[in-house]
Amino acid sequence: MIISEKKEETRNQVKEWKRQGFRVGLVPTMGYLHEGHQSLMEAAKRENDKVAVSVFVNPTQFGPNEDFASYPRDFEKDAALCEKTGVDLVFHPDAGEMYGEGFCTYVDMEGLTKELCGKSRPIHFRGVQTVVSKLFHIIPADKAYFGQKDAQQLAVIKRMACDMDMDIEIVGCPIVREADGLAKSSRNTYLNAEERQAALVLSRSLAAGRKLAEAGERDASKVKKRIEEVLGEEELARTDYVEIVDFADITPIENFAEAKKGEVLCAIAVYIGKTRLIDNFIFQLQKG
Ligand code: PAF
Repeated sequence: MIISEKKEETRNQVKEWKRQGFRVGLVPTMGYLHEGHQSLMEAAKRENDKVAVSVFVNPTQFGPNEDFASYPRDFEKDAALCEKTGVDLVFHPDAGEMYGEGFCTYVDMEGLTKELCGKSRPIHFRGVQTVVSKLFHIIPADKAYFGQKDAQQLAVIKRMACDMDMDIEIVGCPIVREADGLAKSSRNTYLNAEERQAALVLSRSLAAGRKLAEAGERDASKVKKRIEEVLGEEELARTDYVEIVDFADITPIENFAEAKKGEVLCAIAVYIGKTRLIDNFIFQLQKG
């Protein structure tokens, strides 16, 4: 497995693979890898000849009062997991290599980023789009893999790749959960034992919302209310948002039937103590 800290070396290696006719899959990450990331790497391995993983805690997607400095990092462990999973290249630049002196170009979009996480994290998606575009140029892969846990991020990246005619297929992969239902996240490591238990309220509230939708409820406000009720039962939880939107363009809907491609995203962000966690489900409307 190649570990590269340099953009040029990485790009040359990937170009060489492409020249040899290999299909290349990219898994962009911020490290502290867990089974969720591993499922992305495994999907990339199944569908490509070579797999590249980037490990870079991207400063431009963190607001001034967010957890950039404390975001967990353990590169040796990450590299070992990549090696074990059969990854071919790990790109691990530092911030100076990624953002050279005088850097002042950002990628942003008009829609999709203002709702949900965009409300409390106003510069977040601009940073994500910027770094992901850069990664797509440094690692000109055929396919890139993102988890559905960050559903808004997935929708934003799909939109960006389409709007900017990027020659790469964006693949979304299902949420991976702990046995008790908590969605895997590098930020789960911030939770103490009591908070870890309280955090189960996220998946529990979504399961209650999903149950209503599965029973035929199409009024978004009723499903939202049910989710909020369950979240309200947990003392350690403080809701940032519960939103029901069209997954295609992240616009709020009043009735599930309004979803243009039949996919409704029910997404939540909840503080458990000081830790902000997100989770969601995508409800597919039956066609016809
Ligand atoms: O999902 C993440 O870990 C990050 O937002 C990403 C896509 C790697 C960009 O820094």
